[in-house]
Amino acid sequence: DEVEAGAIRWRSPSNIALVKYWGKHGDQLPRNASVSFTLDAAATDTTLHYTPRQQLGEGIDLELYLDGNPRVDFAERTRTFFSKLLPIYPFLRQLSFRVETQNSFPHSAGIASSASGMSALALCLVSLEEALFEPLTDRGAFYRKASFLARLGSGSASRSVYGSAAVWGKSEAVADSSDEYAVSIADRLHPVFQTYHDDILLVSREEKSVSSRAGHGLMEQNPYAPPRYDQANRRVTEMLRLLMEGDTENFGQLLESEALTLHALMMSSRPYYTLIEPNTLHVIKLLQHYRRETGHPVHFTLDAGPNVHLLYPDAIAGEVKDFIRGHLLPYCEDKLYLADRVGKGPQQL
Ligand code: PMV
Repeated sequence: DEVEAGAIRWRSPSNIALVKYWGKHGDQLPRNASVSFTLDAAATDTTLHYTPRQQLGEGIDLELYLDGNPRVDFAERTRTFFSKLLPIYPFLRQLSFRVETQNSFPHSAGIASSASGMSALALCLVSLEEALFEPLTDRGAFYRKASFLARLGSGSASRSVYGSAAVWGKSEAVADSSDEYAVSIADRLHPVFQTYHDDILLVSREEKSVSSRAGHGLMEQNPYAPPRYDQANRRVTEMLRLLMEGDTENFGQLLESEALTLHALMMSSRPYYTLIEPNTLHVIKLLQHYRRETGHPVHFTLDAGPNVHLLYPDAIAGEVKDFIRGHLLPYCEDKLYLADRVGKGPQQL
């Protein structure tokens, strides 16, 4: 039958890993399980326009606009992603696509948009499958498929298709977990963690100097990799218990150790590399001091970059924001931070 033109639009948030995914094999399969909070404000809004393709060609027919401007680099990356999906979705060759996408966070905020971007695109694709064929059996199957597709685009994106919190990778603590897609653990969050904030201190807005693809690759020769993968798997189990018990203190200690372990792995690679900046350490030390003074459960984590994420419960949000504004912003580029929090997950628009 003739396919009619149409458009599908999803907004997907980013996520922040609590136990980090670092090291992969095969087709984007993780070396260890990971767990994350889904964010709210940091998000990508993507519209996938499709029309029947006029002349059948070999590759994927697609153009991409970021904030209204054509971007050949992202278009190329997206064509590569769609080509990779052809064995599952042969119909991608029979359509012409125009992707319109925008991020809620500033352009060069030094914030990775791959998790929210790939998640939004994957959700559009599963909706497209449903529009062209028939609805999947249930919503669980819908999100599992979206997570599976998102993973093929960017590993950490697999965790962004669910609200609150998700686990990606086979874990003894989660019966239905898989290396191929993430699963929701929203029902395991103690209420205190549902109120958690994540304020992202923009220590540097520069593009990161080493891609995460290269970083994962270096793990293959890292002498600490095998014990790290065991540690991470054990830590996912421990993290899930702390999330369920509402143990903010031990949660925070584990969170910070995970962040520093990620960067220690980068520093122990050959070639080694350093993504934290002097101001990253300034912020961490001021935070430690603030914690000793107040006893407040506010802890940091880091992504593959210099920016510091501060995680804390809503009950102390006023005081923590005063501390950020008064003491931490001088160490941030352009005195900027992004206020975010645990969110409800993607939305179809
Ligand atoms: O999804 P990737 O390949 O960009 O890897 C991201 C890895 C970290 O952000 C550093 C950790 C994580 O689990 O999100």
